[in-house]
Amino acid sequence: MSQISKGWNFMIRFDNVTKRFDDGTEALKCVSVTIPAHKLTAIIGPSGCGKTTLMRMINRLEIPTEGAVYIDELPISERDGVELRRSIGYVIQRIGLIPHMTIEDNVALVPELLGWDKMKIEARVDELLGLVDLDPSVFKKRYPFELSGGQQQRVGVSRALASNPKIILMDEPFSALDPISREQLQKELKKLQRKIRKTIVFVTHDMDEALAIADQIIIMREGQIEQMSSPAELVENQATDFVREFIGQERIDRQRNFGQRSIKEFTRFYDDTWSGETRKVASTLTVDDAIAVLDAYPTSRLAVTEAEEVIGYIGHHSLLQAAMENGKWVQS
Ligand SMILES: Nc1ncnc2c1ncn2[C@@H]1O[C@H](COP(=O)(O)OP(=O)(O)OP(=O)(O)O)[C@@H](O)[C@H]1O
Ligand SMILES: [Mg+2]
Repeated sequence: MSQISKGWNFMIRFDNVTKRFDDGTEALKCVSVTIPAHKLTAIIGPSGCGKTTLMRMINRLEIPTEGAVYIDELPISERDGVELRRSIGYVIQRIGLIPHMTIEDNVALVPELLGWDKMKIEARVDELLGLVDLDPSVFKKRYPFELSGGQQQRVGVSRALASNPKIILMDEPFSALDPISREQLQKELKKLQRKIRKTIVFVTHDMDEALAIADQIIIMREGQIEQMSSPAELVENQATDFVREFIGQERIDRQRNFGQRSIKEFTRFYDDTWSGETRKVASTLTVDDAIAVLDAYPTSRLAVTEAEEVIGYIGHHSLLQAAMENGKWVQS
């Protein structure tokens, strides 16, 4: 297909999609939305609002009653369902690793279905386990029950990446985890996405999770989309009262206030050798302004001064880290 080589970038478009189940439940009501390519889009909303139904339409586990879904302007109704599903990674809450298969065989599942050769599969399994921070020599031969919940979820993520799909669907992948593993996996997913730049659709119940990892957030309510914005926009402007309540005033204030704090409290002394550029800034600078400076000069480190004296430094990484820990979204 010529579309594959030309301008094929894996954007997903819903055109007036309605889903009515046999019992009459309308899970989606005339939804039109474009999910951008190479970005992480989070879908969030109350239980039963249609998040899973929306997601399952992308790999044709659900078929629209009305309307159509397109991947790069090709209607997916014209694709073979099995072939389509093999080309899209899918991670769910209880990942459903196959219990009697080793971790290695679980990760190799789709590549094997696709008929890759053995050497290529083996190399790929090692690479993927490494990517999600599981040492292949330790984990490859184990069975799922010999792993913690967090480790199993990492295997689920590497299995979804195995055949190098351009689109990955994740339905509350981290919600069964304890807060610490959860936060760690969020950070790793974000780091991973910087490298792999897939079109990721990520369903969650957790607003902090959405704000921390997403490039775009879709807020749903009763089968419809209330708002789609970047996390920063969402905190600035809420389209409806529902969205405002859903995010919560406390969270909105926390995010706004963090950016207004002075950088002094994040200033540290580093005694390593720094070969990059250093830019001097006053310790009274706000976090938002410091982020703007670091965005403009991404390779630099800030030397924080008081009365012309350098009192310490701030690096890109440590500031973004502090920002994320305070629930503030920053483009990175
Ligand atoms: N097979 C089905 N038959 C009938 N109704 C269904 C079916 N699957 C889902 N529904 C209904 O469609 C609506 C949307 O369900 P969906 O699973 O998409 O919600 P959700 O937003 O993912 O919820 P949750 O956050 O609880 O996972 C719900 O009212 C649900 O009961
Ligand atoms: Mg769901």
